[in-house]
Amino acid sequence: MSEDPRIASLLAQGYHFLDRETGAIVPPIHLAATFHKSVEDFGYRREASPTTAIAERMLTELNGGPSLAFASGISAAVAILETVRPGQHVIAHRTVYQGIKRWMRRMEESRGVDVSFVDVRDADAVRAAARPGRTALIWTEVVVNPTLEVVDVEQLATVAHEAGARLAIDATFTPPVTLRPLERGADLVMQSATKYLNGHSDAVAGVVSAQKPDALWREIETVRTYTGSILHPLDAWLVMRGLRTLPLRFERASATALQVARHFERHPKVERVSYPGLESHPDHDVAVRELRGGFGGMMALYVKGGRAEALRVAEAVRLIVQATSLGGVESLIEHRASFEADVNPVPENLLRLSVGIEDPADLIRDLEQALATV
Ligand SMILES: Cc1ncc(COP(=O)(O)O)c(C=O)c1O
Repeated sequence: MSEDPRIASLLAQGYHFLDRETGAIVPPIHLAATFHKSVEDFGYRREASPTTAIAERMLTELNGGPSLAFASGISAAVAILETVRPGQHVIAHRTVYQGIKRWMRRMEESRGVDVSFVDVRDADAVRAAARPGRTALIWTEVVVNPTLEVVDVEQLATVAHEAGARLAIDATFTPPVTLRPLERGADLVMQSATKYLNGHSDAVAGVVSAQKPDALWREIETVRTYTGSILHPLDAWLVMRGLRTLPLRFERASATALQVARHFERHPKVERVSYPGLESHPDHDVAVRELRGGFGGMMALYVKGGRAEALRVAEAVRLIVQATSLGGVESLIEHRASFEADVNPVPENLLRLSVGIEDPADLIRDLEQALATV
């Protein structure tokens, strides 16, 4: 072949996996907790294990940097945050995935780490918040959960590095088939692999990838070993299974989401739709520049009225499932303010929709009938 295969071809074949011993083209699941001393690669499963290591090799290719697999997205995030020392300072976007924001608050209360929450899309606001010699880390999502704001990674990486800080990106909404933050200057990227990477709502997993296996990366690995938060082999296998169809799933979810967003953008019961693929989205230009393989399946629907109307719509869907989580083949809807309004500025009339791979007409019909109830 004259050119390197594209990412979809590599993923479809599990990066051409071949088990040398058996000829199997699908990786084995090794559940052993301990390994014979004569083998150098593995000792004890809390540190590393063969099936999880195969998943990590795939994730390394996918994210473009050495990768560590974790038992959840949140444990991956916590391992990064654990590297911030007492007295140091973190700048985070004003809206951060609620579980991670709660951990940041805990760091402020119990570890003597200050966290400034600012709108990181505003480079001047980030520069103003930076504390010379103390700001160690800047943290944000690219497409923000659940407001769907879009952050310019390249611009933020420049500002972070000017301030002597590292940039860590939570790329859960934007898998590497559409954006590779390490190529845009981020120092670290993490994903909840529970979402798009696995894509079937049947595994909980996280990943951290770095520019290089430097001291920071090794410290993150040490936190994983000390806390026992490595990804279980069964979940590692499910993530690998999911990765094979990631490009197809993401492309389909993105195309359907754009159709759904366009349909409801001018609906009498909808105040507005926030979807990065819509021309009306305030960060649409950044999204077009940055998200090369689709805008994804996530959107925010602002129902006319308030909390009561939004809750009624969420209750009324029949095909779409009212449940937390996202990035799976099935569409999910959730009233986010119900459980994160205490930490994030989330409007009461916002419904977060994760568009799956169902027929777009069915999803539109379901939302139409749900909106007709208010
Ligand atoms: C943006 C984002 N980051 C991190 C997480 C946490 O991931 P996990 O649930 O796999 O721990 C989530 C979960 O919803 C998320 O949406």
